Amino acid sequence: MAIGHFNISNLEGFHGIYNAAKNLSAFGGLNMPVIIGLSEGEENFVGREEAVSLICTIRERDNYPIFLNADHHASFESVKKCIDAGFDSVIIDGAKLDFNENVRITKQCVDYAKSVSSTTLVEAEFGYIGSGSNIKETVPEGAGILTKPEEAKKFVELTGIDMLAPSVGSIHGLVKSGQPHINDGLVAEIKKITGIPLVLHGGSGLRDEDFTKAIEAGISIIHISTEIRLVYDEALKKSLADNPNETTPYKILQPAVEAIEKVVFERLKLFNGMKY
Ligand code: G3H
Ligand code: ZN
Repeated sequence: MAIGHFNISNLEGFHGIYNAAKNLSAFGGLNMPVIIGLSEGEENFVGREEAVSLICTIRERDNYPIFLNADHHASFESVKKCIDAGFDSVIIDGAKLDFNENVRITKQCVDYAKSVSSTTLVEAEFGYIGSGSNIKETVPEGAGILTKPEEAKKFVELTGIDMLAPSVGSIHGLVKSGQPHINDGLVAEIKKITGIPLVLHGGSGLRDEDFTKAIEAGISIIHISTEIRLVYDEALKKSLADNPNETTPYKILQPAVEAIEKVVFERLKLFNGMKY
């Protein structure tokens, strides 16, 4: 199985994701872990400490394995703030930097994390897969160049990261032409040579079999964002159009929560190898 990581921009996103995880857990008979992600933009909107309070409170209240990740943070300063605030994991994203600079900034984050906490995990990007959870015409320039296993090994050794996000065929966002495919052979090679958990980014739009073979090859966490943004947007617009006189936010927003829940439920079911 792989753990699902889903991004949120607001409380509706959180409820949709958590409802899906709890409902599926009820079917499966055990609490299935789930990760809530906040990119730098999402974090600015939601609030750093607000997000930590929410996830920690719910985790304790329900004794449920739900975790908070600082997704794609680009600087040491922003990673440090999240570690200090109590995020469970952080991603330093130096994918666009050259090898030495990516190693330097990543190592700085790892050293800091280890100096202040024995439990905060650090993930790094190695191989650029584009940026932005949105709809794209084609694969962005420079994105999608596959990670070389030997270089990934060197990167892991030099930085001491806990988890690695390689470029193995997926692209951030939904690409209109040129459906991405996962190179599962490459996943297996990188997994074997690095020996640490691998994270698949850019999950939106991949086919079910891409996920299954990626998991079999060694992927431990899968990120989904664009698919959630799309259904939220559609459901919200429809709700507003269908109920022009409604002014109560929780009534207007309920369909958006349910739309997110549906998408996340199906993805979690697949990632956890469940066939209900
Ligand atoms: O970190 C976020 C993810 O990699 C999301 O990618 O928008 O293609 O689902 P996605
Ligand atoms: Zn990502």
